[in-house]
Amino acid sequence: MDYFSNSCLSFLLLALSFQTYMACNPSDLLALNGFSNCLTSKIDGWNSTASDCCTWTGVTCDNSTYLSKRVIGLELGNKRLTGMICESLAGLDQLRILNLSHNLLHGTLPAKVFGLQNLEVLDLSNNDFVDSIPPIGKMSSIRYVDLSKNYFKGSINATLCEISPHIQVLNLASNNFSGEVSRSFGQCTSLQHLFLNSNSLSGNFPESLLQLQNLHVLHLEDNIFSGQLNAELGNLSNLVELDISSNRFSGNLPNVFGKLGKLEHFSANTNMFSGYLPESLVNSPSLITLDVDNNTLNGAININCSAMIHLVSLNLGSNNFHGPIPESISYCQSLNILNLSKNKLGGEIPYNFKNLQALTSLSLSKNNLANISGALGILQHCKNLTTLILSMNFQDEQIPGDVNLQFKNLKALAIPNCQLRGLIPLWLNGCKKLQLLDMSWNLLGGSIPLWIGNFNSLFYLDLSNNSFTGGIPMSLTGLQTLTDRNISTDGNAPCVPLYKTRVPSGSLQYNKIGSLPPTLDLSCNKLTGPIWPSFGNLKRLHVLKLNKNDLSGPIPDSLSGMSSLETLDLSYNKLSGEIPTSLVKLNFLSKFSVAYNQLCGEIPTGGQFLTFPNSSFMGNKGLGARDFAFCQLVDSPREQMTIIGLPFAVGSATGFVLTVNFFLQVWVGVPKARKKMKPINK
Ligand SMILES: *[C@@H]1O[C@H](CO)[C@@H](O)[C@H](O)[C@H]1NC(C)=O
Ligand SMILES: *[C@@H]1O[C@H](CO)[C@@H](O)[C@H](O)[C@H]1NC(C)=O
Ligand SMILES: *[C@@H]1O[C@H](CO)[C@@H](O)[C@H](O)[C@H]1NC(C)=O
Ligand SMILES: *[C@@H]1O[C@H](CO)[C@@H](O)[C@H](O)[C@H]1NC(C)=O
Ligand SMILES: *[C@@H]1O[C@H](CO)[C@@H](O)[C@H](O)[C@H]1NC(C)=O
Ligand SMILES: *[C@@H]1O[C@H](CO)[C@@H](O)[C@H](O)[C@H]1NC(C)=O
Ligand SMILES: *[C@@H]1O[C@H](CO)[C@@H](O)[C@H](O)[C@H]1NC(C)=O
Ligand SMILES: *[C@@H]1O[C@H](CO)[C@@H](O)[C@H](O)[C@H]1NC(C)=O
Ligand SMILES: *[C@@H]1O[C@H](CO)[C@@H](O)[C@H](O)[C@H]1NC(C)=O
Ligand SMILES: *[C@@H]1O[C@H](CO)[C@@H](O)[C@H](O)[C@H]1NC(C)=O
Ligand SMILES: *[C@@H]1O[C@H](CO)[C@@H](O)[C@H](O)[C@H]1NC(C)=O
Ligand SMILES: *[C@@H]1O[C@H](CO)[C@@H](O)[C@H](O)[C@H]1NC(C)=O
Repeated sequence: MDYFSNSCLSFLLLALSFQTYMACNPSDLLALNGFSNCLTSKIDGWNSTASDCCTWTGVTCDNSTYLSKRVIGLELGNKRLTGMICESLAGLDQLRILNLSHNLLHGTLPAKVFGLQNLEVLDLSNNDFVDSIPPIGKMSSIRYVDLSKNYFKGSINATLCEISPHIQVLNLASNNFSGEVSRSFGQCTSLQHLFLNSNSLSGNFPESLLQLQNLHVLHLEDNIFSGQLNAELGNLSNLVELDISSNRFSGNLPNVFGKLGKLEHFSANTNMFSGYLPESLVNSPSLITLDVDNNTLNGAININCSAMIHLVSLNLGSNNFHGPIPESISYCQSLNILNLSKNKLGGEIPYNFKNLQALTSLSLSKNNLANISGALGILQHCKNLTTLILSMNFQDEQIPGDVNLQFKNLKALAIPNCQLRGLIPLWLNGCKKLQLLDMSWNLLGGSIPLWIGNFNSLFYLDLSNNSFTGGIPMSLTGLQTLTDRNISTDGNAPCVPLYKTRVPSGSLQYNKIGSLPPTLDLSCNKLTGPIWPSFGNLKRLHVLKLNKNDLSGPIPDSLSGMSSLETLDLSYNKLSGEIPTSLVKLNFLSKFSVAYNQLCGEIPTGGQFLTFPNSSFMGNKGLGARDFAFCQLVDSPREQMTIIGLPFAVGSATGFVLTVNFFLQVWVGVPKARKKMKPINK
């Protein structure tokens, strides 16, 4: 090669490489500008006057072509895009990855987008797209499709698989697809992950899916599938995850789990399965989580821990399992979460439960268990226990007072509705990590100890409907989690269903401890004394219920400091004086009652007070007059009082108030609104 041709070649190469730095393919540029023009939002980092679109945010180009760079990736997930997708996008004919997920795009999808021959990954999830999916064109390279969390509707079929035999992931979850799953799904032989959950799909378990030998993950939950499962489910021998919960499947669970040798997660909760747990299921060596909650399964609990060596989470709640809790469960050494609540289990907690050293959450509520002293004595050895739910058992027993009981890691303890007798036990004071304590609906008595205010993480305390006497411990008004906005609770803590009643509609249930509103509920006891002004320090408190006690004295002005308060119930006490007008500052207050006290004076106007019904104020002495000028602070109701030498029977509200008011204005000349009340000592 001579010098000239050599340098010429260098020049050519230089020019070419220069050009590749300069420009993206003009038709790609056109397509991207067309796409951008259909949006109603700007895309940060896009500059339509800068001609190399390969430098734009989210755009990837292929550098291998010499003449111009081709756009092969468009990834604009989570960019707050609004507007529609228009056809011009289909001009990106070399596109391999299209990700527009987590935006606010709406409208229908243009059919041409489904004709991109080179597209491998399509993620349009988490938008507001509507209507049916357009007919699939020539997407012969596609392997990953995520259209979940939109408003797509219509029936679903697998024409996609006809065109592209390589599709591995198909996610159509959380849309409004309906009808039966088409037989054509049998063609999706490469499919590994299929999500059809949270739609309105119906019919039997789709038979076509039983041909998908490569399926690892199958989610059908939250649809209206029905009928029985048959033994051919065993065909899906590569399944690792199967979720068929929240459907209307019925009949027995098929005894096929021996064939599902890789299955780690099986969830069938909230169906109508009946009969026993199949032998192959309770002997599955691969299962890590098993959830058959809320069916009508029965028989004894016959989990074989010698076989189920990987079991971490077992949920058999809300079924008809009966008999004693088998001791053998204590050999499931990896067990973290055990939920046997709402069954017909009897007897006591087996002694060997103390060996469940990995156990973090135990729920046994609503069974017929006995011997709470034994239960707590055993469970204290489960050192990792953070959540203990024992509601509706141990009827009519004495709460153990053994000071040596230790639950150092306990975060949630619920023993409501057990007719328990006794005092609040001293051992509770050692549960330093408590966030939630529910001992409501029992027969506990004595006073509420001062140390209840020492729990640094406590934010939910329910001692309602017992027979506690004495005053409200002032230490409660210093609870650190409720006074300090910065302390956050553990949002990942497990579910805490707090069963209280046998009426389903009346039962209280929450998902996560962290989602419970910060609450102090001392209602329905026999507490006396005042409401401490320092309650105003509880800035984070959402619910304060002190109703149905014998509390007296005024409603402190400072309660307006509880700036997060949503519910304030002080009804059925002996509170007197006026309702402090400062309470109108409680912007989040939506439930409020001071009914059946001995309050008088004006009802504050403005703020949330405009929304409270009359029933919030009824049953007081003299509450509700527009311009009442005179208000007494008294100690006891139904007493005869003497006002300016005249005898009045206290109790008949409005008429009395108006009369006195009129009397005072006309004859004494007292100004209309008065801030301070005048105590009358009797
Ligand atoms: C867009 O690109 C043009 C030409 O390269 C440049 O002059 C202009 O400043 C750019 N605008 C923005 C907002 O980056
Ligand atoms: C193309 O080249 C640019 C600049 O050298 C580089 O940043 C980019 O990663 C390359 N793209 C691909 C797909 O190789
Ligand atoms: C698409 O983008 C979103 C948001 O950036 C990201 O979470 C998601 O994993 C991406 N999808 C694919 C298939 O890579
Ligand atoms: C599959 O669904 C698409 C779009 O919903 C429809 O156009 C097509 O006709 C259907 N194919 C079959 C075989 O049902
Ligand atoms: C979903 O479809 C059902 C009928 O199939 C319809 O009643 C319902 O309103 C739809 N929901 C939405 C959000 O479009
Ligand atoms: C299940 O597998 C067997 C044997 O591999 C096969 O004959 C049968 O057709 C499969 N069942 C279904 C419903 O695909
Ligand atoms: C239990 O299942 C029934 C229907 O089978 C359903 O109505 C109910 O909501 C389910 N309960 C829970 C807590 O999921
Ligand atoms: C429990 O599992 C072990 C180990 O797989 C097995 O040897 C034993 O027979 C099983 N017991 C029952 C009652 O199935
Ligand atoms: C335990 O089972 C009950 C009753 O079925 C259910 O409502 C609750 O959510 C379950 N708790 C956990 C921690 O799974
Ligand atoms: C108990 O919890 C600790 C801390 O989370 C953990 O390191 C330990 O492995 C757990 N014990 C068991 C037996 O799982
Ligand atoms: C309760 O259980 C403990 C420990 O298992 C046992 O010692 C005690 O006798 C039991 N009490 C009753 C009344 O059964
Ligand atoms: C108090 O608890 C008992 C059960 O101990 C229950 O029957 C009653 O309804 C509860 N009362 C209130 C007002 O919650």
